[in-house]
Amino acid sequence: MTTQKKAISLSVNGISYEASIEPRMTLADLLRGELVLTGTHVGCEHGVCGACTVLLDGRAVRACLMLAVQADGASLTTVEGLETDGELHPIQQAFIEEHGLQCGFCTPGFLLTVHELLENSPDPSDDEVRDALGGQICRCTGYQAILRSVRLAATRLRDAQAAASSQGS
Ligand code: FES
Ligand code: FES
Repeated sequence: MTTQKKAISLSVNGISYEASIEPRMTLADLLRGELVLTGTHVGCEHGVCGACTVLLDGRAVRACLMLAVQADGASLTTVEGLETDGELHPIQQAFIEEHGLQCGFCTPGFLLTVHELLENSPDPSDDEVRDALGGQICRCTGYQAILRSVRLAATRLRDAQAAASSQGS
């Protein structure tokens, strides 16, 4: 039996896409298989590890748990969309400098979760960071380096914000 395909349109990293897909396709499979954005990693495929986390209209979601049709009309950011003009995002740079990654499998999910956290809470306490990252699993780092990476990223983003505000005033 063939399933009727559904037409969807969405924006990913600022680029508009239209696709005709099986209604049962997950968002992770759309991103990786159809759009070849393979920076979104798939680990557990049932919402536990956080490796597949992307931003949907600014909110961190598990791409393995969402159907692609649910993203119709949405604006998505994947790890590929974090850099600007070839420059790494300050969160990415902080993870490199503070050794917040080793094998890197979990890293895209961490980066996007931290992005959401720092948008909502630019100066989070360590407990807030731990809470926000509670759903992300890393098998390599032991998490302390990730915590340091988030602190450094938060400081840099606040400094950049302060510099931009003083230039604008
Ligand atoms: S692959 Fe989606 S949460 Fe693990
Ligand atoms: S860096 Fe290897 S799983 Fe996190």
